[in-house]
Amino acid sequence: MKTQDELKKIAGYKAADLVEDGMTVGLGTGSTVRYLLDALGERIKKDGVHFTGVPTSKRTADYGAKLGMEIKSLDEVDTMDITIDGADEVDPQINGIKGGGGAQTWEKLVATNSKQCAWIVDESKMVDQLGKFPLPVEVLEYGHHQLVKRLSDLGYNPVVREKDGGLFRTDEGNIIVDLHLGKIAAPYDLADELSNMTGVVEHGLFLDMTQTVVIGTQDGAVVKT
Ligand code: 5RP
Repeated sequence: MKTQDELKKIAGYKAADLVEDGMTVGLGTGSTVRYLLDALGERIKKDGVHFTGVPTSKRTADYGAKLGMEIKSLDEVDTMDITIDGADEVDPQINGIKGGGGAQTWEKLVATNSKQCAWIVDESKMVDQLGKFPLPVEVLEYGHHQLVKRLSDLGYNPVVREKDGGLFRTDEGNIIVDLHLGKIAAPYDLADELSNMTGVVEHGLFLDMTQTVVIGTQDGAVVKT
């Protein structure tokens, strides 16, 4: 029986095949993406593959640069051929929840500007309905008590994310509120509602953005489109 980590590695290494010489590639964030980066680093060394990476977090930028990747920011490139990223939950329509690592704003910006997107997940992330994983929402710190109250009044069970005894901070210096929803019956309505709330920077519902999911399973990598 392979561990969850081994399944993440299977997905990350398989998805490295999606990257071709000369591409501009959005690079996601998280432990599964770290395996993708390792695989891409090996291809750079062994095969001399060259591509430009657009990272979705400072963590990914640092790790990619260490592995010899050319790293550019979103504003330094014209177009991106593909973005490969992890996800926290993926439903049968390849809609998902992201932001477990708090990077969903840059992740969504990079994904939105890519010609195509692929997710890499271990099989435990595949669900029939989104919502068991708490939905991350990046918000401004200023006024967040009011926003949390409003989210609570709406029945969204918000919890302000903490780290090391303080507030968790995104790469933009904002904070994260995780919504414990259980099930998301109407994801498009919820996405619109959250996007329209003042103080919300970005939420982790990624709808109609991703065409491919590479799943690490006990039987190997499965590619679903
Ligand atoms: C970070 C993300 C990650 O892609 C997501 O949390 C999955 O992470 P992991 O691969 O470590 O399970 O959205 O903001």
